[in-house]
Amino acid sequence: MTGKDGSGEAGGASAREGSVLAPAPKDEEVQFERHLRPKTLDEFVGQEALKSNLRVFIEAARRRGEPLDHCLFYSPPGLGKTTLAHIIAREMGVNLRSTSGPTITRPGDLAAILTDLGKGDVFFIDEIHRLTPMVEESLYPVMEDCNLYIATGKGPGASALKLSIERFTLIGATTRAGLLTGPLRDRFGIVGNLNFYALEELDAIVKRSAAILGIPMEAEGGREIARRCRATPRIANRLLRRVRDFAEVRSEGRITGELARFALERLEVDPDGLDALDRKLLQALVTKFAGGPVGADNLAISISEEMDTLTDVIEPFLIQSGFMARTPRGRVATKRAYEHLGLKSPSQTLELL
Ligand SMILES: Nc1ncnc2c1ncn2[C@@H]1O[C@H](COP(=O)(O)OP(=O)(O)O)[C@@H](O)[C@H]1O
Ligand SMILES: [Mg+2]
Repeated sequence: MTGKDGSGEAGGASAREGSVLAPAPKDEEVQFERHLRPKTLDEFVGQEALKSNLRVFIEAARRRGEPLDHCLFYSPPGLGKTTLAHIIAREMGVNLRSTSGPTITRPGDLAAILTDLGKGDVFFIDEIHRLTPMVEESLYPVMEDCNLYIATGKGPGASALKLSIERFTLIGATTRAGLLTGPLRDRFGIVGNLNFYALEELDAIVKRSAAILGIPMEAEGGREIARRCRATPRIANRLLRRVRDFAEVRSEGRITGELARFALERLEVDPDGLDALDRKLLQALVTKFAGGPVGADNLAISISEEMDTLTDVIEPFLIQSGFMARTPRGRVATKRAYEHLGLKSPSQTLELL
């Protein structure tokens, strides 16, 4: 399945559906995200270093009248990879075709999309680490010199059909650069990592979204959402939407600080922005594994989640904000985790902040 307008990570349904941690937006949310998605680099809040480099690369490519070099963006879900791909296409003045790694199963699927691209168009592959090896290998020559080879026949009579593709820009997105094979990674001229957002940036994002949606919001209300969104714009927008529901029922539609705190508590998002699943993970780490070290696989099993969900969705924010750490021997809880759970930490516990 491909579309003109990609919709973020295709994640499987699980207990996380509806949780602030759900990695993939649901259909209804996709519409909402599209509405709020910044359309230009100027509207895209934060990621200043990456943005200023992209400005230079885009300007240079435009002056030369060439497509932009292939780009790879990696970050935990919801930090703006898909948004950036759309912005790049727009700033380059080209169309964007989007698909995701798991949906391209054969090189033939690739041929169908690639032969349809116009000169300089953006081809966006979400979850690019999930391409099959055969599809991935057929991408190499396309990325290098715009030739796609399709195998025909089998055995000694087998040959390859060569298709010439218009020069285009491949933009790949993945939750972890380390999941990509070396040969694929090496074929991207531009590689960008998106970081978790700073409080001021999240504040700006929530304000911008509230203005677009016409939600009356006091500064303190926006601040509260910004503080509790796991430093992730997608979650900030998701929380804004849920908090608005509470505001409509309880405070004539107005998001005040008090209303936001009330709503977030109801949504089980605590003052540090951790949700029920975050707490479940820390609780397991501390009580079932005595604070670690424990392997990610065992930790994931103990909370009935997939290991990828643990490593790509839950853990990055907990590590970034000092609740747990990754050591060579496994995951460990920090002093902050014990404090957060209201438990006394053993004397040797790691103190990060
Ligand atoms: N830098 C940003 N500034 C403003 N809004 C953002 C930014 N990054 C992401 N968003 C919002 O968060 C939503 C999710 O971003 P998206 O690009 O789909 O993330 P990813 O592809 O990394 O999972 C977007 O619809 C957009 O509204
Ligand atoms: Mg995405």
